[in-house]
Amino acid sequence: MDSIRTVGVIGAGVMGTGLAQSLAQSGHEVVLVDRTEDILGEAVDAVRQNLRLARMLGGPAPTEDRELVLKRISCTTTYEGIEAADFVIENVTEDWAVKRPVYEVLDARCAPRTVFAVNTSVIPITRVGAATTRPDRVLGMHFMNPVPMKPVVEVIRGHHTSQATVDTANRLLGQMGKRSVVVADSPGFVSNRVLMLTVNEAVFLLHEGVATPAQVDEIFRECFGHPMGPLATADLIGLDTILQSVQGLYEAFGDSKYRPCPLLTRMVDAGHLGRKSGKGFFDYASTLA
Ligand code: NAI
Repeated sequence: MDSIRTVGVIGAGVMGTGLAQSLAQSGHEVVLVDRTEDILGEAVDAVRQNLRLARMLGGPAPTEDRELVLKRISCTTTYEGIEAADFVIENVTEDWAVKRPVYEVLDARCAPRTVFAVNTSVIPITRVGAATTRPDRVLGMHFMNPVPMKPVVEVIRGHHTSQATVDTANRLLGQMGKRSVVVADSPGFVSNRVLMLTVNEAVFLLHEGVATPAQVDEIFRECFGHPMGPLATADLIGLDTILQSVQGLYEAFGDSKYRPCPLLTRMVDAGHLGRKSGKGFFDYASTLA
């Protein structure tokens, strides 16, 4: 594939919003898909706000008029314009029952040459590839959050992923000013197999009354030099995504070390999802618009 001009971004939540911004800032036309106009409107507002605050937030500041960047993002609930996509990055809810029908639509509507990248926390890429008629053109691209600020992406080669597909993904990342670490397919890949277990274990420490959230995170920040502790990281990712990921690892490996902590399940049931809901292990009410 020669040039990657138009990129479909499916799902306009935490990750889709960051991706739409990064792609539009690097000159790509973006077709942003979600279920409702309201969600899409909120995503575009978030991109506008993030472009305005980019310098303060530590991400790459726009080098051109902000409205020009925003104009490259077209929003749709009906996949209108997806046929033009050279590359699609799917970021819908971390649930295979939700993701699978999205691939049926994409496979039917996109050109056979179009590459599909799965942005998932733990779902095996080989399973996604097998649900399409182009498994050689499906790969994992595990972007980190917030997307505009993270220079490295974990790229996952599924069982059938071709080298040409990996090369195309690397080219797109190069255009976005990012680079990859390419790994083989395994539930949770490298990052989340380690991170989700660490977060879940940190929640067990709270559940057992061993330490407070502030104490757990202080130990990781001050003793190990991590920029953020595991519980603030969980709040940033979203506790619903964390729970789905831990459950996904538990089902994939059948190993009790991945059983979700009951406190994590209770917090999700209570609607305490972290930054996106204003409350998780820490409070964010004052940072919500
Ligand atoms: P989110 O919950 O913020 O956003 C998911 C979006 O998908 C929502 O806007 C929802 O309306 C939309 N959606 C659901 N069903 C849809 C459908 N049928 N068609 C179109 N849109 C649909 O989730 P988030 O955090 O953005 O995660 C998305 C994916 O990225 C997940 O698979 C997650 O595991 C993965 N991921 C998340 C990271 C994080 O830090 N939050 C990091 C890396 C990957």
